[in-house]
Amino acid sequence: MPLPAERIRLMKRSGIREIMDLASGRDDVLHLEVGQPDFATPHHIVEAGCRAARSGFTTYTANKGLVEVRESIVAKLDRVNGIAAEPEDVVITAGAVNALVECLATLVSPGDAILIPDPGWPNYQMMADVLSARTVHYPLVPEQQFVPDLVRLEELARTSGAKVLLVNSPGNPTGAVFPRWVVERLVEITERHGMYLVSDECYEQIVFDDEHVSPASIQGAQHVLSVFSLSKSYAMTGWRMGYVTGPRETIDLVAKVQEPMISCATAIAQKAGQAALDGDQACVTEMVGAYQARRDLVVDILRQGKLLISVPRGAFYIMADVSAVGSDSYAFARRLIQDRAVAVAPGETFGPSGAGKVRLSLATATPELCEGAQRLVDAVAQWRAS
Ligand SMILES: Cc1ncc(COP(=O)(O)O)c(C=O)c1O
Repeated sequence: MPLPAERIRLMKRSGIREIMDLASGRDDVLHLEVGQPDFATPHHIVEAGCRAARSGFTTYTANKGLVEVRESIVAKLDRVNGIAAEPEDVVITAGAVNALVECLATLVSPGDAILIPDPGWPNYQMMADVLSARTVHYPLVPEQQFVPDLVRLEELARTSGAKVLLVNSPGNPTGAVFPRWVVERLVEITERHGMYLVSDECYEQIVFDDEHVSPASIQGAQHVLSVFSLSKSYAMTGWRMGYVTGPRETIDLVAKVQEPMISCATAIAQKAGQAALDGDQACVTEMVGAYQARRDLVVDILRQGKLLISVPRGAFYIMADVSAVGSDSYAFARRLIQDRAVAVAPGETFGPSGAGKVRLSLATATPELCEGAQRLVDAVAQWRAS
């Protein structure tokens, strides 16, 4: 009897999907669990995609992607991120998720360790599982706006033998935006310990109070792979368009991995993405303004309910402290759906430090979001008393 691979059978599903499944079929549930922009892809981007399909961009492209699209990416990297690159230093991918898994496949062998944030996006663990790599959590400190504990991180870099440090700022699920001095330290640590830094910058444009600093723009950064996405900035999750840049020899290897993975990103999505990058950026400013206004409303609601952990400075998530009801965040999330018809992401799906916490997505329409956050606050107040 043939058996599928053990590591895939044992791989944990994302807790967010589990909650979505529980909520499915119930149209009374308020959805605060999914990180999906509630905006439509801006019109000029959709039009560019349609035009591309009509004019024959329906074939394979080079592994790295269409040259003219990579030229637009290079211009954006220079303008927005302060990263100097040439078109040959870029691989266009099917979103950031594809870029990240290809980077990790390029850098790690089975058994190698990857340092991942706790709390952090669950897919990092799943990617490591698929590649038979090990993960070691490094802590983000809730009392310090979820920036990494740098002393502990340096110790882990020294003792774990990890090959890759995975960094995500602006961060999911915390909304943390690492200040420049922290990014400089992260680059120093990886260079000092002979590691690669893989930087997941898929929320780079969604920043409220701070600047976003790309690790690759820091002086002395030589082993950084920077991963970007159009999913969140331009409400393009379904188009599957992202890209990665880094040192040429490593990027050539990522392009090699691209062949057996997806060969190339969809040509139509590449052309739509080019229109997004080259076009008017007012749509981004508008969406970021909406996320920021929602952030302010939810911060007030959680603060009044004494559930606020940290004010998000970017991305579109906020964590709430529900530990007064217990540490089992899955049990809490299930009960919240059943009793209050509100779906949230259980904190523990983001790592052990997520116990007693849940994540709310600000990419939800304002009335639904505020009603859901208020129901959460009321539920904790009642359940802690009972
Ligand atoms: C931290 C993080 N990285 C990457 C991604 C993947 O984005 P994409 O749609 O570009 O694959 C997500 C999506 O939710 C995310 O939260």
